[in-house]
Amino acid sequence: MYTSRKLISALALAGFCSAVFVSSAQESVRLGTPVSEADLAGFDLIAEPSGAGFPSGSGTAAQGKAIFESRCAACHGLNGEGNSAATIIVGGDMQSEESPLRTVGSYWPYASTVFDFIRRAMPADAPKSLNDEEAYQVAAYVLYLNGLVGENEVLNAETLPQVRMPNADGFIDQSDIQ
Ligand code: HEC
Repeated sequence: MYTSRKLISALALAGFCSAVFVSSAQESVRLGTPVSEADLAGFDLIAEPSGAGFPSGSGTAAQGKAIFESRCAACHGLNGEGNSAATIIVGGDMQSEESPLRTVGSYWPYASTVFDFIRRAMPADAPKSLNDEEAYQVAAYVLYLNGLVGENEVLNAETLPQVRMPNADGFIDQSDIQ
């Protein structure tokens, strides 16, 4: 008896509180303004292996060299050799008997991810500070340092996802497993 009375008063209190919340929500809580497509575009930067999500623009490694040297080399070295284990972006070998060195060239399965990651997360000290054109150029340079594209090969929404990465078949798709 005591317990159920306590329960009833708790429920009554909850009802009272939600009534107060609803009425004050109607009067004073500011729920903001709807998000525009333009605002969303700033967040939605995922460039996929299918080619979806790439911006317009293009770039070559030759164009990306200067950007790499001024914005990336301090952490990644002039030739991608890095200044710590985490910042080596060239070389490596997934077939090695030792623990393999995972880099863009040895490990990453899709060139689209290289572009996507650079565009969203790099340079680490100023993410998203490159414009789309610069992101294409410097991504081309990283792929060039790995020997995966030519110096003057034009990379854009169509050609970049087609760059074949050495470890493209090194992953097992388990997305079907429940
Ligand atoms: C202030 C240092 C710094 C600068 C400048 C910088 N990076 Fe990085 N970068 C890092 C660090 C640290 C990582 C490792 C991050 C991690 O593993 O989460 C990284 C990771 C990367 C990776 C992925 C490496 C891998 O295999 O996991 C790429 C590609 C890359 N950076 C490209 C660039 C490019 C291109 C630029 C210039 C536009 C740049 N970075 C500038 C520090 C930096």
